[in-house]
Amino acid sequence: MIAYLNGAYLPPEKACISPLDRGFLFGDGVYEVIPSYDGKLFLLDAHLERLGRSLAAIRLPDPMPDGGWAEMLERLLQENPGADRSVYLQVTRGAAPRDHAFPGQASATVFAMVSPIAPQGSAVAGAGVGTITVPDLRWGRCDIKSVALLANVLARQQAAECAAVEAILLRDGLLTEGAASNVFVVTDGVVRTTPLGPAILPGITRAFLLEVLRAGGRDCREEPVPEADLRAADEIWLTSSTKEVLPVTRLDGQPVGDGRPGPVWREALDRYRQARYRSMHVSGKEATHD
Ligand code: PDD
Repeated sequence: MIAYLNGAYLPPEKACISPLDRGFLFGDGVYEVIPSYDGKLFLLDAHLERLGRSLAAIRLPDPMPDGGWAEMLERLLQENPGADRSVYLQVTRGAAPRDHAFPGQASATVFAMVSPIAPQGSAVAGAGVGTITVPDLRWGRCDIKSVALLANVLARQQAAECAAVEAILLRDGLLTEGAASNVFVVTDGVVRTTPLGPAILPGITRAFLLEVLRAGGRDCREEPVPEADLRAADEIWLTSSTKEVLPVTRLDGQPVGDGRPGPVWREALDRYRQARYRSMHVSGKEATHD
């Protein structure tokens, strides 16, 4: 594997980051995870737009303006050929003597690496996945894709210890999102997901899925989902750049609906995959979705 660090393409074991890096000391940085299929980045513009918003929110000047990101990411994919890959990219405020306030002088650290996207597999899709609910203990700006993920890490670990693939987070009696995914529920054919705001990450997959489902005539609502509705839902799905649309069939050990992936999920995944294919084969350029 070849990674990227501050202008160099090199094996990750050769990439050195200072222990004074503020990403390491404070979690002072932001990140993106961008999927690619057959060597082409999917919804790159939307991911770069969100990266720009995360950087602006933490007041870190964009270290690679003017198309630099796309160029670097495309070169990184060429260095790591393969079918389905996700690119992880992280920007921190750089290395400086430890002080909470911003350093007077520091240049941002930019790191990126490529990993295979684990296929959903017909077995997983056929059976769906198990989840647990946990209290959402995160901070008040979950819309920033911050690398400070301790609450998410602890929630996901709790899920792993229950042999569940994701922790679904609840705050004040309402669904927020998953530890590393957005959550959709289906009740009587109506699709609902938590509205955008500081309580959730504005998922790129979430936005793309809402768009394709609405284009297909499905009633989709961005509105608060009470815990009771989550527990009584006919279907629950997780979305993320690496999970696409994953059906949840167990919640806290109880079956969701009839305990099998539902028909609206099937429709959603089909529409999502068709739209993904179309958007990546439109005159060689990605269609814009956000
Ligand atoms: N996580 N919510 C949270 C908290 C997330 O971490 C993610 C993605 C999402 C889905 O966003 P998107 O559709 O843009 O991937 C929602 C990435 C994949 C990760 O941390 O690995």
